[in-house]
Amino acid sequence: MYYTVSKGPQGAPVLVLVHGAGGSRLLWPPQLRRLPGATVYTLDLPGHGRSGGPACDTVTGYAGAIVAFLDELGITRAVIAGHSMGGAIALTLALDFAERVAGLVLVATGARLRVAPAVLDGLHADFAGAVEFLNRLTWSEISPVLLERGRQALLEAGTAVLMNDLTACDRFDVMERLGEIAAPTLVVAGSADLLTPLKYTRFLAERIPGARCEILEGAGHMVMLERPVEVARAVREFLNAKNP
Ligand code: COA
Repeated sequence: MYYTVSKGPQGAPVLVLVHGAGGSRLLWPPQLRRLPGATVYTLDLPGHGRSGGPACDTVTGYAGAIVAFLDELGITRAVIAGHSMGGAIALTLALDFAERVAGLVLVATGARLRVAPAVLDGLHADFAGAVEFLNRLTWSEISPVLLERGRQALLEAGTAVLMNDLTACDRFDVMERLGEIAAPTLVVAGSADLLTPLKYTRFLAERIPGARCEILEGAGHMVMLERPVEVARAVREFLNAKNP
């Protein structure tokens, strides 16, 4: 797996950033990839960005790939931050590999991520059209720069990878298991998120024991790119509170 690392001071918390469906490490803003006071690993999931290997079609498959990544780098425990499908992967790690998870940052995600059948069907019938539709739902504001960035990311991912990822999302469901999570958790989302609505965020915040929740008014599904400074501040405060 391809990754970049931004080293923090000795003893700094280790943060691993996990992107969402059809994404890559570049969908995390620099403010998080180079978060001061932390050692941050930002990775491309298998089959994405510069990473080799096929994409998985289950969230547990991706969670296994991250455990292998942590093993390879000799990282025993890390705070796992995941966006959307990456959040599903982070939740799975916290449930099934709890000893490896020092904390959870769940960004614009949910405990269940059903995908509208029209989106899955559309990927095969008209890939460019499905990408356009998904991309429009992804952003709260129609910023031409961000829209183009999102469109390019999805087009580069391609039909097979996006299909695998959305299938993985569609199969994911840990709604009944959130009470088992022991890791300190921060939940972050935009109030105008159309892909993982606020209801999903509230569910996470209410069911994960002791979870903190930060809602950014007006932000959409790509809350970390729409509001990088505020999201980075929330993560930094969370890490500081965890490691006084
Ligand atoms: N957290 C809290 N509640 C959730 C949830 C979550 N993660 N996921 C689903 N639910 C709730 C729903 O709100 C619904 O509640 P209701 O019965 O009170 O209305 C119930 O659980 C069942 O929902 P769901 O399993 O999603 O089935 P559905 O038949 O209601 O809807 C979809 C299916 C696909 C239309 C719907 O999930 C959807 O619109 N998803 C978002 C759009 C999308 O495709 N996003 C993914 C793109 S990457």
